[in-house]
Amino acid sequence: MSHSVLILPGDGIGPEIVAEAVKVLITLRDEFALNITLEHALVGGAAYEASGHPLPPATLDLARAADAVLLGAVGGPQWEALPIALRPEKGLLGLRGELGLFANLRPAILYPQLAAASTLKPEIVAGLDILIVRELTGDIYFGQPRGIETLPSGEKRGLNSMVYTESEIERICHVAFAAARQRQHRVCSVDKANVLECTELWREVATRVGRDYPDVQLNHLYVDNAAMQLVRAPKQFDVIVTGNLFGDILSDAAAMLTGSIGMLPSASLDANHKGMYEPIHGSAPDIAGRGVANPLATILSVAMMLRYSLAAPALADLVEKAVVRVLDRGLRTADIAAAGTETVGTAQMGDAVITALRELNT
Ligand code: NAD
Ligand code: IPM
Ligand code: MN
Repeated sequence: MSHSVLILPGDGIGPEIVAEAVKVLITLRDEFALNITLEHALVGGAAYEASGHPLPPATLDLARAADAVLLGAVGGPQWEALPIALRPEKGLLGLRGELGLFANLRPAILYPQLAAASTLKPEIVAGLDILIVRELTGDIYFGQPRGIETLPSGEKRGLNSMVYTESEIERICHVAFAAARQRQHRVCSVDKANVLECTELWREVATRVGRDYPDVQLNHLYVDNAAMQLVRAPKQFDVIVTGNLFGDILSDAAAMLTGSIGMLPSASLDANHKGMYEPIHGSAPDIAGRGVANPLATILSVAMMLRYSLAAPALADLVEKAVVRVLDRGLRTADIAAAGTETVGTAQMGDAVITALRELNT
């Protein structure tokens, strides 16, 4: 069966890193019999420039029709003055919301070859393998009411609402517990139940769902402590399940444990394995256009796509093995290179992955 994949390069380094991931998809299609068709569309600032909207209806239609979406990143300083509704980030949030992609899987794995690239001591991060399960379509990101209003005094007030329903918490917790069964059978639920009622409910529901998984050990941490534990002793974690905002912040912190945010892929899934795949990092305006960004997070996102949406787990393994082989060979983009050592650019890194894929095929 043929699968359709929609490519959304986005802004900043998005087009550069997505080009390398597309090379991987095309190689798999042409040389490994992966049955896919590729479409391209605009999202984010690029779409705003072309059509006046960060998520044009044509892009949303294509995304709805596709089996999987590969997204680079959106945003940049040139769009920061736009109203929130027209900002590039709204394009991404619109896709997540409209497609119902509530389950965001963000694996943070330390490749042993990169132990020295982490800012933490090697013994703290060696063997690190955490899965952050972030709820992606609720919380303060989508809660109503929201906005900026002017009070009778003339002073302005900004307002956002942290909102979760029981069913939203339940379904993401099921994803986390099911994932833990494939791993170390441990779930840490992260909340701020000592202060926020919304997350008091989160803890109650997580505990209830946990009773369906007696073989999985559940513990709870407040988010401030969780952030501290992540950098103190990150290997205590197996699966972390948390809400949209806490998951956003904790996953960037977890990224640095692995050496670079340029290494972390993600999958955003609905209930039927339709997914959007993207690196967890942003459009990196500080390095955009220079051909130096690390494409591995995006290439590893393709591996997740193969596994979750394209029913091609063997090819997913192959892409991950190719990345390991490239790291073994010592290829490093600037973000994962030790000071003073030789680095490669975005395209060279992508080419090296393709070479490794071909070698693994023989
Ligand atoms: P960022 O993730 O873009 O960059 C943070 C730092 O990490 C920068 O120094 C950047 O150079 C570096 N970095 C990121 N990706 C890298 C890669 N692949 N290789 C090497 N270095 C990399 O975060 P930011 O600077 O806070 O945000 C920039 C823009 O991106 C903002 O407009 C933000 O809203 C947007 N953003 C988008 C997404 C997304 O599309 N999913 C995610 C985060 C931020
Ligand atoms: C991410 C990003 C997005 C988020 C932004 C760009 C909307 O930071 O994917 O982690 O906050 O979810
Ligand atoms: Mn983020």
